[in-house]
Amino acid sequence: MPATVLIGAQWGDEGKGRIADWLARQSDVMARYAGGDNAGHTVIIGEREFKLHLVPSGVVHPGLRCILGSGMVINPLRLVEELDMLAAQGVDISPQRIHLSARAHLITPGHLALDGAAERARGGASIGTTRRGIGPAYMDKAARTGLLAGEMRDPGTFAAQVKAALERANAVLSGQYGLEPVDVESLAQACGDAAARLAPYVTDTTTLLLDLLDAGQRLLCEGAQGTLLDLDHGHYPYVTSSSATVGGALTGLGIAPQHITRVVGVAKAYCTRVGNGPFPTELFDATGERLRAAGHEFGTTTGRPRRCGWLDAVALRYAARVNGFTELVVTKLDVLSGLDTVQIAVAYESDGGRTAAMPVFTPDFERVRPVYETLPGWAEDISAARRFDDLPPNARRYIRRIEELGGVPVSLVSVGPEREQAVRLVD
Ligand code: IMP
Repeated sequence: MPATVLIGAQWGDEGKGRIADWLARQSDVMARYAGGDNAGHTVIIGEREFKLHLVPSGVVHPGLRCILGSGMVINPLRLVEELDMLAAQGVDISPQRIHLSARAHLITPGHLALDGAAERARGGASIGTTRRGIGPAYMDKAARTGLLAGEMRDPGTFAAQVKAALERANAVLSGQYGLEPVDVESLAQACGDAAARLAPYVTDTTTLLLDLLDAGQRLLCEGAQGTLLDLDHGHYPYVTSSSATVGGALTGLGIAPQHITRVVGVAKAYCTRVGNGPFPTELFDATGERLRAAGHEFGTTTGRPRRCGWLDAVALRYAARVNGFTELVVTKLDVLSGLDTVQIAVAYESDGGRTAAMPVFTPDFERVRPVYETLPGWAEDISAARRFDDLPPNARRYIRRIEELGGVPVSLVSVGPEREQAVRLVD
C-alpha cells in the first residue's frame, strides 16, 4: 500500500512536524527513518505544545502506530525522557503502538562527549553540530563498532557492551583530545536503567512495516533535518551524518521504492540555517533580524538563533529534483507579511558566470552570489486565510512563482502556528 515521504527542502526546521501532524490524519503508521534527537519537531494542538526529538510526531494521534526505524541513532536516556513527557501529557506510549528497531544504533554519553570534543578541536572550522552525539554514533555504525538497540533486550550483555563503548570513547577523549574521561560506572548504570525501560519497545520493525504495508496500512515516513543537510547530497562537511533525502526512507526503514507514491517537500517561505556552512541568501541586515523575530527562529533542540535569509529557489529546485517531490508545502508565509518587497534567488553568479544549477561541490557553492528577483510584498495580516483566494494578490503571486521556479505544485501554505492556520490549494 502507499507510502508518503515527508522531506525538508532546505536546511531543516522547515516546519515538518506540523505538516506530519496534518498528514497523520491520512495515515495508519508513521516512521522516522534517519537522524536522532538532533531533530526537533514541534506540534501545537490547542493549548498543548509537544516538542518531539525522537518519537514520530504522529504519536499525538490516538491509534496511529509509531516506528523509530533502523536508520536512526537513539540516545536511550533522551528517549525515556521523551516517553515520560508524552505520558505526562496523556499520550498513549504503550509498546503496542510505539516500536523501536532492533537495528537502530544507540548514542552513548561517550558519543556526546566526542561530538563536543571534535567540534572544539575544529575551532573556527567547526560544523556547528547540535552536540547530540550524532556524528560519532554514525561513525561507530560505519566502523561496525556500534551498539544496537536490540542489545537492550539482554541487560547482562548490554551492561558489558555499554562499558566497553564508554571505554573506547574514553581512549579517544584522553588519548586524542587530552580531555577528562567520562564516568563509566555511573553512565553505564544510567544506560542500563534506560534499556530496561525501552526493551519492550524493541522489535523487528522491517518485517512489521512490510506486513503492515501488505495489510493495506498507509505509511508516512517522517524525514528529519533537510535535503541540504544530507550526508551525500548536502554541502559536505556542513551536513548531518545521515540520509535526510528520499533514499534514506528506503534504506532507513527497509521498504521498497514502489511503495512510495507521494513525496511531500516542505519549505519555508524564506530560508533559515543553524550551524555553519554556506548560505548564499543569508541576510545580515534589519530584514534578517525581522525574519528571526517574526518567525521565532531559534532552534528547538539547541535554542540557537537561526541564520535567516531570502528564499533560495535554486536550492529548492535542487531539492525537488533530488527527492522527486510530488508536491510542496510552503510554511510561515505570514512571517513575510508587512515587507514592501520580497526577494527570491533565481540563479547564482560566480567567477564562472551565471548558473541556475546548484553547485554541489562545497568550495564552489561557497563562492556563489545570489541573483535576485524582486516581487511586491503585502501588508495584510494573512493569518485568517483558509482558501487561496483569501490571500492578497501579491502573496498568491509569490506562491505561484515558487511553483514555477521550484518546478513543483504547492499543495498547502501555512499562515500561522496553529494546526488549522493553513491554506489548502488542493483537496
Ligand atoms: P549534527 O546533526 O548534530 O551532527 O549537526 C550537523 C549540522 O546539521 C549542523 O549544522 C546542525 O545545526 C544541523 N542540524 C542537525 N539537525 C538539525 C535539525 O533538525 N534542524 C536544523 N539543523 C539541524
